[in-house]
Amino acid sequence: MKKTVTTFAKAKAEGEKLTMLTAYDYSTAKLLDEAGIDGLLVGDSLGNVMLGYDDTISVTMEDMIHHCAAVARGAKETLVVCDMPFMSYQTSVEDAVRNAGRLMKEGRAQAVKLEGGVEMADRIKAITDCGIPVMAHIGLTPQSINAFGGFKVQGKSEAQAKKFVEDAEAVQAAGAFAVTFECVPEKLATLVSGKLAIPTIGIGAGAGCDGQILVYADALGMFSDFTPKFVKRFGNIGDAMKEATKAYIDEVKAGTYPTVEHTYKIDDEVIDKLY
Ligand code: KIV
Repeated sequence: MKKTVTTFAKAKAEGEKLTMLTAYDYSTAKLLDEAGIDGLLVGDSLGNVMLGYDDTISVTMEDMIHHCAAVARGAKETLVVCDMPFMSYQTSVEDAVRNAGRLMKEGRAQAVKLEGGVEMADRIKAITDCGIPVMAHIGLTPQSINAFGGFKVQGKSEAQAKKFVEDAEAVQAAGAFAVTFECVPEKLATLVSGKLAIPTIGIGAGAGCDGQILVYADALGMFSDFTPKFVKRFGNIGDAMKEATKAYIDEVKAGTYPTVEHTYKIDDEVIDKLY
């Protein structure tokens, strides 16, 4: 059965942990869906993982729509959430609603995610008022990396921790169905998770969140440009890909691939008439 925002609410009510990974293409989405993941995020981390940028700033609406539509085709049972890229919602409430609508209509997402707390609450309310579920994202918000001065843990000082609590309460009050906590101390994330009625999905926020999310290429050992402290490798698909590629190169060079089982036949009399 297709998972929805109701599945997420039920999991929170029943104390069942939620699992999410990112995905950016049809084949990967299909594999992760078949493995039973609860939610797939078409993250703007596709800028790093798929497109080779240093950050998520350059990712466009067209990039997100293109990749989200591919993921949506592969995800039969999983909830598909699509990130709103930088400057697709910060500029105005109207832009936020229009672009969220495009991710749903053209990208076939079931929900959108945007970064920011108190200052983005009006966007979250306006989008949810249109019937589009919103996942919020607070703590370290990578689209604001230039304002933070780098990828730094958030919420450690008293002022930052208070701001984190205010952000969490604001996004819930605005109607978000869930919220991502990125790179905040475990004790803070656990405390706030216990206070909120909506599920909290942690990344670098410890075990006390209602669920976890990772970039799939980090979790499966396929991306090595930068590995944050919170990442655990659950597989070594990158090494497996390199080994399989080397085996292919070796066999083609040695002439042992392709063999008769991989080739198509033609009648000799057709061939004989050619030259
Ligand atoms: O884009 C992304 O991958 C994300 C996760 C880090 C939550 O937003």
